[in-house]
Amino acid sequence: MTETPNAIDMRGIVKRFPGVLANDRVDFACRPGEVHALLGENGAGKSTLMNVLSGLYRPEAGDIFVGGQRVSFRSPQDAIAHGIGMVHQHFMLVPPHSVAENIVLGLDRPRFLLNLGQVENQVAALGEQYGMKVNPRAKIWQLSVGEQQRVEVLKMLFRGAKVLIMDEPTSVLTPQEVETLFSTLREMTGRGHTIVFISHKLDEVVAIADRVTVLRRGRVTAASLAARDVTKAGLAKLMVGREVLFRVDKGPSRPGEVVLETDRLCATNNRGLPALREVSLGVRAGEILGVAGVAGNGQRELAEVITGLHPATSGSVRLRGMPLGKRTHWLELGQQLAHVPEDRAAVGSMPGLSVAENLILRSFYCPPISVGWGIDRTAVRKNAERLVAEYQISTPTVDTPVRMLSGGNLQKVILARETSGHPQGMIAVHPTRGLDVGATEAVHRLLIGQRDAGVAILLISEDLDELLSLSDRLAVMYEGRIVGEMPTEGANINTIGLMMAGTKVEG
Ligand SMILES: Nc1ncnc2c1ncn2[C@@H]1O[C@H](COP(=O)(O)OP(=O)(O)OP(=O)(O)O)[C@@H](O)[C@H]1O
Ligand SMILES: [Mg+2]
Repeated sequence: MTETPNAIDMRGIVKRFPGVLANDRVDFACRPGEVHALLGENGAGKSTLMNVLSGLYRPEAGDIFVGGQRVSFRSPQDAIAHGIGMVHQHFMLVPPHSVAENIVLGLDRPRFLLNLGQVENQVAALGEQYGMKVNPRAKIWQLSVGEQQRVEVLKMLFRGAKVLIMDEPTSVLTPQEVETLFSTLREMTGRGHTIVFISHKLDEVVAIADRVTVLRRGRVTAASLAARDVTKAGLAKLMVGREVLFRVDKGPSRPGEVVLETDRLCATNNRGLPALREVSLGVRAGEILGVAGVAGNGQRELAEVITGLHPATSGSVRLRGMPLGKRTHWLELGQQLAHVPEDRAAVGSMPGLSVAENLILRSFYCPPISVGWGIDRTAVRKNAERLVAEYQISTPTVDTPVRMLSGGNLQKVILARETSGHPQGMIAVHPTRGLDVGATEAVHRLLIGQRDAGVAILLISEDLDELLSLSDRLAVMYEGRIVGEMPTEGANINTIGLMMAGTKVEG
């Protein structure tokens, strides 16, 4: 591979969306061989700026220079021709196709000129070189999320990317996968590649970045700081404009009777393999039961079976002693069981509907929203305006479709809807994934507030720190089973880690 000068210089970038100035004369520069972290609260304009750099959006003003040459991109193909590639948060792979097929998909070269066997060899060699193990013949659907991400990175490297933009790459990875990704990134910068790294996890930023740029409301608030000169607290303040505590203040729990209960629950996953094996759990009013485990050990199925999105093969789920089964219509559950799902875009919201409409998806059949057979438009609007203020949702108007909101603000819409209806039980799955430090703090407060109001909360998260600071009790899942249950107070992190990895621990 020949060396190409790949210094990037963006100057005065302006990008507007209806009602928002997403990038307001932004300057951003990065140089070969560095990991440059791009930080900012939800909606600050990070993804927008990188979509401009990767040719997906055209800016209204501003210039981009690559290796000192002014460039103008009309498409991501243009950007990749200049060595710039982006790995989006939502992967764009075709599940029935193989890894190698996905890598050549969409290439300009006619397909008959491509020898798939050769591509497979090249992909395997690239994987070897950068420490990304993946079988080029495997079908995408067979791969874990972490492996799919490797395919996206390999795809960009195969196309000659020298500048790789990664938009929140670690939010879907297990701690072990994060380590692997980081060593790949170091391998890449060692070979002169540039990495632009977007993340809300400041510990990671401090660990991997060489320099840091911070955006706030579309503007740069700190440009190219040396990472060794920054602290987590300092970065947080630059992002949200105030101090962030990084600590959850909570009093002791006062658990009441069991509200949400599973009894020897069994289920199979989408491939027909056992996903839940006799899971029995009880969550009491006024407590948070945290479920710890490495992704893929049944947590997702547990949440889906409880909320009726996935069938159980045997066992039962009860809410206040009432069995929830096939015939329990979700209307009956009504306000009683709140659900903050893992997949916010597909399960948690209706992307084409407005903020106001999404906020009533759960309550539109109840007064004051429904009047007779109709819906009271004024009440819908009032409800929305109240919740937008209360939960500090940043949106141009309550009529804006939610697909235009940033990830963090979409999560706030779901949380506002789910918690404002006075539920008795709540399932929260990765409730702060993708949220900025300020929003994370707000969500943590909200969950504790719900707990103190007597809601029984089942919290599923891969973030052990989050679980330890929020939960009153912890259950550890491994291969579809609960392998241990303990009070959080005095819990030993090492023991939990061992249990999560499937090691039997005497206790
Ligand atoms: N396609 C779009 N149409 C309309 N508005 C958009 C679009 N994309 C982004 N926006 C708006 O532009 C602003 C910046 O959004 P952007 O996605 O760049 O934020 P972000 O910094 O990546 O946030 P997050 O950390 O939540 O991902 C937000 O107010 C968002 O609502
Ligand atoms: Mg973003």
